[in-house]
This record gives sequence, structure tokens and C-alpha cells, in this order.
Amino acid sequence: MGRVFMDPLDDPFAAVDAELQKYRMGAGIDAAIVDIHGEATSEKMAMGHFCDGRVSLVCGTHSHVPTADAQILPKGTAYQTDAGMCGDYNSVIGMDKAEPLNRFTRKVPGGRFEPANGDATLCAVYVETDDRTGLATRIAPLRLGGRLQQATP
Ligand SMILES: [Fe+2]
Repeated sequence: MGRVFMDPLDDPFAAVDAELQKYRMGAGIDAAIVDIHGEATSEKMAMGHFCDGRVSLVCGTHSHVPTADAQILPKGTAYQTDAGMCGDYNSVIGMDKAEPLNRFTRKVPGGRFEPANGDATLCAVYVETDDRTGLATRIAPLRLGGRLQQATP
């Protein structure tokens, strides 16, 4: 988990580094995925570069909106800042619009957040890896159903 806007948490970079000391792709594991759950695109992008060449994929989550920056980083790690949510995009990050709009405009809670229940879009990233190194050879966004423009690898 990222720390920007979400303190107090342990240092995610040190935590990932400690795990990557234990596991090495191509020597005991075939692939590795880092899900960086964070608010800030900058922190997620920094984690991508921090892990470049050491894992198959770094993909962000938590901000609920798929980003358009799927790429393979210079040392071979696939990366996308946020995978996006699986949910109804006629919403405020998956919640029925009424209460979030109320809180943003009136600054006073008026009830509970309720999930939006319209047609859902499934968002994901598709990654192919090299069997020998575990590094990425391809990344493409996947968006199926619901309101968002469809994308298939
Ligand atoms: Fe989250």
C-alpha cells in the first residue's frame, strides 16, 4: 500500500525490496506481480521503476479508474498506473452518485455510500511473460462490458 494520503503505513518500497530479496524470477518462481494499492499516480509510477527488471508486472489499484499508460518499462517490467475497477462507471468510483455529490457540494454527510448497481465494466490488464526470465513481452488493457470503451488484447 502506498503512503501518499494514506499514512500511517510501513514503507512500501522497503517492504517490496525485502520480499524481492527472497524470490528471484527464473530461479524458483516463474513470474511476480506487484499490486501497488495507492492514491497517488506518482507513488505508483515510482514503484514501477523501483521494481523494473525484478518483477513481471507492477499494476496500481485503489483509484478505480483505468489509466492509459500500459507499457513495458526499460528493464522489462510491464506497468500500468491503475487497472481500474470492476464496477458501474455511471457512479463516483463505484458508488451511487447521490451521497458523494452531496458530500462534495454540502460538506455534510447525508447517509451511507451505496454501491452503484448499473451495468459493470470489467477492467484488467493482460500480460505475457518470457518463460525463461519472467519479464514481460506484452501488456494490454482489458475492458469488457458496461459504459467504457471496450478493449481486448
Ligand atoms: Fe482501495
